[in-house]
Amino acid sequence: MTLNARLTIAVAKGRTLEEALPLLARSGIVPQEEPSTTRKLVLDTSEPGVKMVVVRAADVPTYVQLGAADLGIVGKDVLMEHSEQEFYELLDLGISRCRMVVAEPRALAEGDDPSRWTRLRIATKYPGTTRRHFAKKGVQTEVITLYGSMELAPLSGLADRIVDLVSSGNTLRANDLVEVEHIEHISARLVANIAAMRIKQDRMKALIARIGASVR
Ligand code: PRP
Repeated sequence: MTLNARLTIAVAKGRTLEEALPLLARSGIVPQEEPSTTRKLVLDTSEPGVKMVVVRAADVPTYVQLGAADLGIVGKDVLMEHSEQEFYELLDLGISRCRMVVAEPRALAEGDDPSRWTRLRIATKYPGTTRRHFAKKGVQTEVITLYGSMELAPLSGLADRIVDLVSSGNTLRANDLVEVEHIEHISARLVANIAAMRIKQDRMKALIARIGASVR
């Protein structure tokens, strides 16, 4: 039996963590210290034997694939960008929702027709997803990888367009940019290490069922 197996859950920092904490609390998993303020990296939870680590979003797939975490909570944007990594994607948690879009300056959009794009210069922190999206459409891309403030790229002449996440749309509006193409609906997902699903299956399944019930 694996009902008493120890489990570690890796949760992506930021908005995903903020929205995952109430969901996990409804599933009976409450970190014993405040994750956003503690300097501790491995947190005990109210569930005996279940620990939580809070890491950068881009690191969650690595923790889960290599088994340093049995479960992970991370945005679909990160999973798409790490599509070569191997783990199970179990549940759409319905939190941390936003969309991945192509955006460009309002002035450029006025005379622009996305169906006629042949070659684009795009700034993004999602180079892999961006290349794949446009390769499928037969559009050549020069992709410039940035790690933040993508909206600055068209304003500073670094790129004509950006691929970025949009939630309220306030950042685009404030910088006079408009969405011109939708790429993907994004939300946080529950992922699992492949071996752990077999070796610790009783406890994993029980926990996943509780999290699934909290989503519904
Ligand atoms: C994200 C995203 C946009 C902004 C969109 O950035 O990259 O910049 O949020 O949100 P809005 O539509 O509600 O304005 P984040 O704050 O995560 O920082 P980043 O620029 O470092 O990615």
